[in-house]
Amino acid sequence: MKSAAFLSPALAEYLVAHATPPDDLLRSLAEETRRLTGEQASLQISPEQGTLLTMLAGLSGARLAVEVGTFTGYSSICIARGLAPGGRLIACDVSEEWTSVARRYWERAGLTGTIELRLGPAAETLRAMPDEEVIDFAFIDADKGGYPVYYEELLRRLRPGGLIVADNTLQGGRITDPAAGGTVPAMREFNDLVIRDPRVTSVLLPFGDGLTLIRKNGGS
Ligand SMILES: C[S@@+](CC[C@H](N)C(=O)[O-])C[C@H]1O[C@@H](n2cnc3c(N)ncnc32)[C@H](O)[C@@H]1O
Repeated sequence: MKSAAFLSPALAEYLVAHATPPDDLLRSLAEETRRLTGEQASLQISPEQGTLLTMLAGLSGARLAVEVGTFTGYSSICIARGLAPGGRLIACDVSEEWTSVARRYWERAGLTGTIELRLGPAAETLRAMPDEEVIDFAFIDADKGGYPVYYEELLRRLRPGGLIVADNTLQGGRITDPAAGGTVPAMREFNDLVIRDPRVTSVLLPFGDGLTLIRKNGGS
């Protein structure tokens, strides 16, 4: 993903230069993803988004985190690194091929015992999770039409005070264009659903391609 899509090139460069940079392992994963997937490498979150995810997972004191949309593993490693000691991350994706890269990097990062891959449509994976599983932190970054379902399934299992982070919520800046097609209308519906939801407090940040932080009300 392009860094800081909504800033001038100079400001975007400055912002990236002033976020703690990725380590060698994440850099090597980004590099291999570019080599293996070509243009699809843009599906990966940007380095400063990764730094933010580690920070947010840490601030949430997350013991159980869920990721919807793992791809080659960049964001999963960032989230897993922020978990509380003994914490775990359930990573959902449909692609055996892309997540085979993620698995190799989880092993290199010493996170094999921390991250559990669930292959299959994420809506089914989430519905199959027992209600007693209390989620502290979640990241949604998969098919845009699925966001409302992922949001509902995650929110009902999220602890009060827990956090859901949703990516791509500004759709390259096209979100306010009524004529925009593709995934834009679905994302607009999702953004409207979140802002109308009295169960949560949310803020949409112009960070990366738009990142919405959604905190479940209640709790501390
Ligand atoms: C934007 S990429 C995720 C990028 C990842 N977060 C990262 O930082 O590298 C979206 C991913 O969602 C997955 N995906 C698409 N539809 C899905 C579905 N219905 N259930 C689960 N995963 C899905 C794709 O296979 C793809 O790997």
